Amino acid sequence: MTDQTSPADPFGFLGLTYDDVLLLPGYSDLAPSDIDTTSRLTREISLKIPLLSAAMDTVTESAMAIAMARQGGLGVLHRNLSIEDQAYQVDLVKRTQTGIITNPVTIGPDATLEELDTLAGQFRISGFPVVDAENKLIGMVTNRDLRFTPVAEWATTKVDEVMTPQPLITGPAGISRDDATLLLRKHKLERLPLIDPDGRITGLITVKDFVKSEQFPNSSKDGQGRLMVGAAIGYFGDAWQRATALIDAGVDVLVADTAHGNVRMLIDMVKRLKTDPATKDVQVIGGNVATRQGAQAFVDAGADAVKVGVGPGSICTTRVVTGVGVPQITAVYEASLACKPAGVPVIADGGLKHSGEIGKAIVAGADTVMLGSLFAGCEETPGDLVLVNGKQFKTYRGMGSMGAMSSRGKKSYSKDRYFQAEVTSDDKIVPEGIEGQVAYKGPLSTVAHQLIGGLHQTMFYTGSRTVPELQTDGRFIRITSASLKESHPHDVQMTVESPNYSGF
Ligand code: XMP
Repeated sequence: MTDQTSPADPFGFLGLTYDDVLLLPGYSDLAPSDIDTTSRLTREISLKIPLLSAAMDTVTESAMAIAMARQGGLGVLHRNLSIEDQAYQVDLVKRTQTGIITNPVTIGPDATLEELDTLAGQFRISGFPVVDAENKLIGMVTNRDLRFTPVAEWATTKVDEVMTPQPLITGPAGISRDDATLLLRKHKLERLPLIDPDGRITGLITVKDFVKSEQFPNSSKDGQGRLMVGAAIGYFGDAWQRATALIDAGVDVLVADTAHGNVRMLIDMVKRLKTDPATKDVQVIGGNVATRQGAQAFVDAGADAVKVGVGPGSICTTRVVTGVGVPQITAVYEASLACKPAGVPVIADGGLKHSGEIGKAIVAGADTVMLGSLFAGCEETPGDLVLVNGKQFKTYRGMGSMGAMSSRGKKSYSKDRYFQAEVTSDDKIVPEGIEGQVAYKGPLSTVAHQLIGGLHQTMFYTGSRTVPELQTDGRFIRITSASLKESHPHDVQMTVESPNYSGF
């Protein structure tokens, strides 16, 4: 295959997608425990499961990002919100299930209980070290302390009237995980504040975070034991401020989130992010592209991974509205031709309908996949459950849909994803996506289990122990539309819903 159509045969370049191919079974000598789904997300980050949740306002906010990281994947926070709100979402993820919180939110002794309650709600945490003006620990206060003061007195009662004052059980800054566990268990503590020799607060350990770490052994964590999180950025207007605010909040991966990434301004921004001393250490993903040349531009700009997909998404209308796109299996393969020699991972974004497509994307050259519709029905996605004819649904809409790009209800921050940043009037928007709903599927853990279970089975059938082995050993066979019909259930009426199959 080639990236260019030949002048002699302008239609010679055939694009294939997931339904056009199957994987050939191979010799297998594997036990289920041999199979390892670890894969590279970027040049420097690997994930235990090769799944990302899409940067969409009906898919990934902090609750989904936390759930994704706990499963061993990564959530990419959408950017249809203000810079402050998106940075706050990053902070919420980084404060959850941390080994040691190095910058705990503290409160002063003179704050009122009303202020304490507001702070607890704002950061979704229930206990605070109380510190004096020199940041020295003078007590601990928790939500529980609030309960014994009538609400009517919250505005006039000060924190130091209800807190547990020093002497407290504390740990030294730099305490080991094992020593901290011993202290937490011995004293049945919920929280262990860490202090330096002068008594200044340097960190906080919560028992809940320790328990969660044991509960989610695959979780995606940074060097400090905090959950990892990605966040979407654009390239227009205040994009640089957004990127730096997200970095300040502790984001691990910045994801260029545009429908068409092969654009000078974005490529320049990736270059700048990867060279500026203030930003070069964060991982940056370029996208979206669908050709070898588009991927090469990001490789040359220093991107740490390249995201592929122009128009394959379930809610996308880009291909019909603009006539532009590349069928996804071919797009991933083409991008991998530029990325593989440079050691840059590829992300296949959009168009996956079943678990079987994860393996197909990997064999085509992807290292991870990004999912929208397959995750949109999870409990952790933004938005309420909608009841229709007794069945539960969740809203799912394209980021290029009228709803996401118009000011309906609130300001839209992501119109530049579709090259329409300067469109001021809603009736002038040209949407490239639709708004809809998907069936409610319960917690992400069960959905991810089915998807990764499917990938395990793929690897068993192909005889591949690891994702890199699947990439090199996997072989495609092209199929016809008659074969596709044969692949799906046929000639039977489905009577019981299956957890991993919802139909054609
Ligand atoms: P799936 O198929 O997983 O696709 O639902 C999710 C991906 O689709 C992209 N996306 C869009 N593409 N118009 C488009 O052309 C849209 O409105 C739109 N919204 C999201 C995006 O790459 C996402 O990860």
